[in-house]
Amino acid sequence: MQTEHLRQLDRQLVWHPFTAMSAWEDEDFPVIAAAEGFHLIDTDGRRYLDGHSSLWCNVHGHRVPAIDAAIRDQLDRVAHSTLLGLANLPSIELAGQLVQRAPAGLTKVFFADCGAAGVEVALKMAWQYHRQKASPESRDLFVCLSHAYHGDTVGTVSVGGIDEFHSLFGGLLFPTLRIPTPATPGLSLDDCLRHTEEILTANADRIAGVIVEPLVQAAAGILVHPPGYLRGLRQLTERLGLLLIADEIAVGFGRLGTLFACEQEDVHPDILILSKGLTGGYLPLAATLTTEEIYEAFLGDPWAGRTFYHGHTYTGNPLACAAALASLKLLEENEVLLNARKIERVLAEELTADGSAAWMRHVGAIRRRGTMAGIDLALDPAQLTPFPPQRRAGHAVMLACRERGVILRNIGDTVVLYPAPAMPVGLVRELCQTVREALAELRPDA
Ligand SMILES: Cc1ncc(COP(=O)(O)O)c(C=O)c1O
Repeated sequence: MQTEHLRQLDRQLVWHPFTAMSAWEDEDFPVIAAAEGFHLIDTDGRRYLDGHSSLWCNVHGHRVPAIDAAIRDQLDRVAHSTLLGLANLPSIELAGQLVQRAPAGLTKVFFADCGAAGVEVALKMAWQYHRQKASPESRDLFVCLSHAYHGDTVGTVSVGGIDEFHSLFGGLLFPTLRIPTPATPGLSLDDCLRHTEEILTANADRIAGVIVEPLVQAAAGILVHPPGYLRGLRQLTERLGLLLIADEIAVGFGRLGTLFACEQEDVHPDILILSKGLTGGYLPLAATLTTEEIYEAFLGDPWAGRTFYHGHTYTGNPLACAAALASLKLLEENEVLLNARKIERVLAEELTADGSAAWMRHVGAIRRRGTMAGIDLALDPAQLTPFPPQRRAGHAVMLACRERGVILRNIGDTVVLYPAPAMPVGLVRELCQTVREALAELRPDA
């Protein structure tokens, strides 16, 4: 009864993100009231395995004693104070810890309060940097990958490339140059890099920066890049004197078995953006890291117009920074990276394509990397015929998982598994078992 009342209030008052609200009104969605470990608990006391890390950010589970204690301890000191004109203890310490762990050369940390804001910082920083270098050039173009996703603000949508989310806003966006994703079916790594080289070379003196999601394009449906792409792109950008901006918001903090994805190809970007898992998935925070060279272009007399006029009210929030410090400590103490690599093996075992299995009847493709997996649904997998949109096949699988006590989120007709890097492998197997059951139940018609 209480739950139904809360649902009614929600329907009346709350506009949910990325949600078809007319269909939402007919749904009996859970109202989350609590959590324990890797489970969320609703107002009726039902427990759900958090199979998507509460939108890809949870690292150690929920109500982790060490992170809870760190936030409470900080709460006893100060919850918020600005970085405009003041410093605070946790943000200084966190900046130090990030610089120590990040790819070499990234020595300055600019804090923001969500992933998209962190990307906006990177874009504006790169833009202004070029205008303040000793020999200013009119670098007015950002380069981004096809099917890119970097957030939902106007700047980040400009460097995005997911038609369903972004095409409506075309007239509102700044122009960009597109390079092919190396995950394009039928495109070899060599051809992809060759084509990219042509585009970059032809426009080199206009390019303000090249932005990439390293190794995996998550929001595009877990598009996995072939090994060597990131390094190849770094070599190209280095040779042409272009800034490389690595958006590790979805892939950082253990997702792929290393603290940062760039490490896996020994890549040192000029700008690195972190968020989501930065606080262990507890509080909103982003960090944009950059080099001395970029930073120095912003130095000069205060009246010389070189200041970076960008900031957010909650930039460097002490509670969020305290959570991030506790999370970093736990990543090491609990050997979370090792666990993430175990999860990668478990996902490979549990989601291995087996053409004869009932759960494969409508599976067109499975892509995996680290703790992330995307399962494409198809009406006829042999022909890769899509389901009609009104079937909402991905949504149906998501609902069937929820019925069985697992929360995850589909992106259209791609079912995405995104367990927390610290999730015990037994629970990961449970997650996969549930997804297989839900897939086996999928029928062509509702
Ligand atoms: C690669 C990437 N960049 C940026 C963002 C945006 O982050 P936020 O939702 O915190 O604005 C996301 C969110 O999913 C992401 O996956």
